[in-house]
Amino acid sequence: MSRRAAVARKVSITHPSGDELHFPANFTWAAATAAVQVEGAALTYGKGPSIWDEFVKRPGAIVDNTSANTACDSYHKFKEDIAILKYVGVQQYRFSISWSRLLPTGTVEEINEEGVQYYHDLIDAVLEAGIVPMVTLYHWDLPLALNDRGGWLNEKIVEWFGNYSSLCFQLYGEKVKHWITLNEPYSQIQNGYCGDDGTVHAPGIQGECSWAAYLVGYHMLLAHSKASMIYREAFKDVQNGRIGISLNVNWILPESEDDEDLADQAFQMMFGWFAEPIFGREGDYPVAMTERIEFLSRKEGRVTSRLPALSEKQVEELTGSADFLGINYYNSLMVRKPRKGELTKVRSQLKRDIGGIFYYDPTGLSGIGKPGSWIKYYPEGLREVLRNVRDRFGNVPVMITENGCMDTPGEDAEDETRVFYITGHLAEICRAIQEDGCNVLGYTVWSIMDNFEWADGYTSRFGLYYVS
Ligand SMILES: *[C@@H]1O[C@H](CO)[C@@H](O)[C@H](O)[C@H]1NC(C)=O
Ligand SMILES: *[C@@H]1O[C@H](CO)[C@@H](O)[C@H](O)[C@H]1NC(C)=O
Ligand SMILES: *[C@@H]1O[C@H](CO)[C@@H](O)[C@H](O)[C@H]1NC(C)=O
Repeated sequence: MSRRAAVARKVSITHPSGDELHFPANFTWAAATAAVQVEGAALTYGKGPSIWDEFVKRPGAIVDNTSANTACDSYHKFKEDIAILKYVGVQQYRFSISWSRLLPTGTVEEINEEGVQYYHDLIDAVLEAGIVPMVTLYHWDLPLALNDRGGWLNEKIVEWFGNYSSLCFQLYGEKVKHWITLNEPYSQIQNGYCGDDGTVHAPGIQGECSWAAYLVGYHMLLAHSKASMIYREAFKDVQNGRIGISLNVNWILPESEDDEDLADQAFQMMFGWFAEPIFGREGDYPVAMTERIEFLSRKEGRVTSRLPALSEKQVEELTGSADFLGINYYNSLMVRKPRKGELTKVRSQLKRDIGGIFYYDPTGLSGIGKPGSWIKYYPEGLREVLRNVRDRFGNVPVMITENGCMDTPGEDAEDETRVFYITGHLAEICRAIQEDGCNVLGYTVWSIMDNFEWADGYTSRFGLYYVS
């Protein structure tokens, strides 16, 4: 599970229509990975277990019964990773730090020096190759020791994450100028704390979603803002870097005109949940979300809303707590109002809370990649997202921190479908910049190489490089 083929798959940036795409000269081209998905050495060299190291042991949790114990073996082969990044020609490499590799029990009381050295070596080698590092502090791999103490459900996580982040800034901030606090809080909550929408991820807590989801989201927002405050107060002036957050975004299309308000509410309750408090002018949850969860909570006979309120101080600290918005975009969703009695049959708690029936339009949103894949080709949705961000959030700088698709069975290394998918999205980004004046800094492809794709194990290959 660790050798790479020597041939890069084809990536071209001529749009399938034949149009050439002209990006601004300062547009950044990047590729991404995450620690769990590539590093391997999961239980060695002083690393403490993360929730994923525990989760993979659960029978049936990973479709091919594999683990991330070896993955791409990047712990040993990061120089090969950097060689392929250089060959592909990216200017920036987005990777994540494994919290429990630095802090085996999650807190700063015990530091794993081998882990500290590993990231120094990785960052130095990235820089030596003339590539800019962009570092994600949390890409879903909570130290198991902290999960045992409640993890994201424990308010202490804000302090734990603050201390861990502070250590990272202190260790690597002279060299790393692009930080991402959290990757995709919404996905982590949906898959890790609800697990009722087709996918279950670590920590695999199920059945508590109705309140746990919003408590986890609350702590994630506060953890983000804590790390950002620490960076700005103690490091930014000297280190001169920028700090942001990566959110997964689906554009939501109404089935008919009647469903337009619902589509907007859904967009607010999925993307706005995290985007509004950080980038919005009011700096709180979207009003539609607060009202909706309050309404449902009252109906359920609860005294308090399932959505924990942000205090005035928290709102103030969250507002503007990111220098850029990272967008991970893979697909869009259709939504319509439920018919009578239909909503109770929706399995996903978060979608029931939104109050809509979601689906992929089989004609409009083409499935792509492997059969039954969640990757749908609707690049126009990304442009809609970018325009929405421009209007709502004062044209805050956006970095596309993930976009890509898995292998299509039967295709060879020419990779026609992936080329089609990526260039289709690049075309929409290019139009968003040139025609809509959207402030997009760059594009990060997911991923530079095939890797451990969470619950899909090694069965979904997202790499520009094939790993065998
Ligand atoms: C990139 O260049 C454009 C002009 O082409 C400018 O408006 C923009 O601010 C630049 N962006 C960055 C991040 O330097
Ligand atoms: C994974 O293990 C289960 C038993 O736990 C077995 O039924 C299944 O066939 C295995 N799947 C693969 C792809 O090996
Ligand atoms: C973490 O940071 C807080 C302050 O934010 C401090 O009180 C605490 O002692 C630190 N250390 C640990 C191990 O949590």
